[in-house]
This record gives sequence, structure tokens and C-alpha cells, in this order.
Amino acid sequence: GKGTYPYYMIKEIDEQPAVMRKLVQQYQNDEGQLEINEDIISEIKESDRVYIIACGTSYNAGWAGKQLIERIAGIHTEVHLSSEFAYNTPLLTENPFFIFLSQSGETADSRQVLVQVNQAGYPSLTLTNVSGSTLSREAKYTLLLHAGPEIAVASTKAYTAQIAVLAILSECIANSKGFESFIDVAHELSIIANAIETVIDDHEIFDHLSVTHLSSSKNAFYIGRGIDYYVVMEAALKLKEVSYVQAEGWASGELKHGTIALIEDNTPVISIITDEVTGPHTRGNAHEVVSRGAHSMIISMEGLDRKGDAYVLPKVHDLMTPLISVIPTQLIAYYTALHRGNDVDKPRNLAKSVTVE
Ligand code: M6R
Repeated sequence: GKGTYPYYMIKEIDEQPAVMRKLVQQYQNDEGQLEINEDIISEIKESDRVYIIACGTSYNAGWAGKQLIERIAGIHTEVHLSSEFAYNTPLLTENPFFIFLSQSGETADSRQVLVQVNQAGYPSLTLTNVSGSTLSREAKYTLLLHAGPEIAVASTKAYTAQIAVLAILSECIANSKGFESFIDVAHELSIIANAIETVIDDHEIFDHLSVTHLSSSKNAFYIGRGIDYYVVMEAALKLKEVSYVQAEGWASGELKHGTIALIEDNTPVISIITDEVTGPHTRGNAHEVVSRGAHSMIISMEGLDRKGDAYVLPKVHDLMTPLISVIPTQLIAYYTALHRGNDVDKPRNLAKSVTVE
């Protein structure tokens, strides 16, 4: 049950530090090293490209995963929407390896792709929260998210769990390839668990921001670049589905190529800045919208913060920032929905698992 929590969504947001810690335990061997089934590792090593297939929030997690697999394990990775991939399949490499991301393991669009992948005889791995689910049974391999049941329609802890498992997987591949390690994923995940707690302790800041700037707004924008762009796509999806505020998650450099026409007086624009290289550019883009009347709020990371930022995230490893920068956006979606009087756990028109194509 949800215990003393008013909604499952906020309970599940709160559970994320524990999920990060649990994942480290689950994937550690007796020597305290991260370890994943050798067959999975060697099949991925033999492939020349990883194809991540998913829908919705899992798709958004896939983009953070691509960054991890490419940077840590050195394998080219593409991310595709299941419903697009199924009927408009791109030219594949010779030895593809498929990773299906699905909290429920029951998503029909993803299953459609898996059926085709199996027919073609390609190896596949499902990352899911539900052991014994359809995608888990039908894929060659499964890795579990160990996030505990996710009841709220809006996915929160499955997003962070998927990224964490992909980080663990990436490190195991890198180790097996004999790469000199530049990231200790288990250590970083324990730092992240503490950092998520810090952000959740600051929940009143996001509650206040939601009441003041979002709950009576008809639309909103999240902007970012690079790794922060991946997170703003998820931030916008979360805000849309539970608060019904029309939201766009946009690459900040693209605003001026059209979307900026939508900026009016007081339009909320939230920037996410955790990337040192692109941070100054996003700040420049935030400045451009302010001069068109937008209400700009910047969520930055320790070390990259400037006076006047709406919130400063605790510092975590560069490749792992989605695990922390997404937390304020989950809380903003939750509080905005709450203040608008919506049924937070069961938003209109949506079901927890989408079992039709
Ligand atoms: O169970 P899955 O991860 O396959 O579900 C995919 C999407 O349907 C799901 O993430 C959906 O977008 C959520 N409602 C997002 O919060």
C-alpha cells in the first residue's frame, strides 16, 4: 500500500535512493565487484551496435543509457521508439544486439519489435521491473530493475533504475574488454543515492515553484543540451501526463529555430544545466527567452551554478547526471498535478501498461 503517502507517485519518487542502493547490492559479487551474467556481456561485446528499443519514459531512459554504453563500454548505440522501429526499421549493422527497456515488460509496441527480432535470430536483452513478464520471457536475456512494484501510472523509479542498470552493464562490458576504468559505477551510485535524498529533502522548493509558476500556466518549456536534453524530454513528458500542462522538452539551441515563437509574458521555461561544456550556451538561450517575457528558472549543478539559479543540484559524476537532474522535474510534475486537483496516480486517458499497439 501507499502507507502514509497521499499518492503512490510521491512514495515511488521517495524510494529512489533505496533503489539505487539495492541495485548495487544486487549486481555485486562476493568480492564486491559489479558483475553481470557472462553470456550477456560476451554477446554484447561481439555485437557491432546496440539498439535500444522502448516507449515513453523507458525510451527517455534509453538516451541516458546510450551515453553510458558509448562512453563507458565504447559500443555504438542507437535509441528507437518501438512503434516507429517496428514498421520503419532502419538499416541494421551486421551484428546487432537489442536491448528492450520496459518497466512492465508488457508493452505491446515493444513486443512487436521483439517478435521481429526473434524471427531474425538477433540476440536480445530485456531490462524490466517484472520478472516473468512477456518481454522478459521472450527475450534471450533479462536483467531486473529491482525497483519494487511501480503503481503510479507516471513512471519515476523505473526511469532511474533503468539508467542505473545500464551504467552497471556498461561498466561490466568495459571491464571485460580490459578498458582502463575511469568510473566506479558502484561508488557513483552510492553518491547518487545520497544526492537524491538531498533533493527530496528540498521538496518544498519545488512545491513552491509549482504553485507559483506552473499550476496556473497553460504551457511550459524545459530546455537543455546534450545529456541535459535527454532529461528535459523526460521532464516534459512527466509534466504533461500528470499535470496536463502542455510541455515541451527542447534542445535549447533549437529554440530560436521556431519554438521561441511560443514564448509569451510569464511562459515558464525551466533550464537544466549539468553539462560544463554546454551550460553557458543554455544560459544564453535562457537569456534569450527572458527578453521575450518568459519566466526563466535554472536548475544547475554545484560548480556550474550562478547567483539567482532556482535550484543547485549536488555534484555527481558527469555521465550520471540524469539520475539526479530528473528528481526536481518529477517533484515539479507531482506538485503541479496536486495543486491542479488531478488524480496524480491515475491521469486521464492513461493506463499503467499499454498492451495494445
Ligand atoms: O512498461 P514500459 O516501460 O514499457 O512503459 C512504457 C511507457 O508506456 C511508459 O513509460 C509511459 O510513458 C509512462 N506512463 C510514463 O510515465
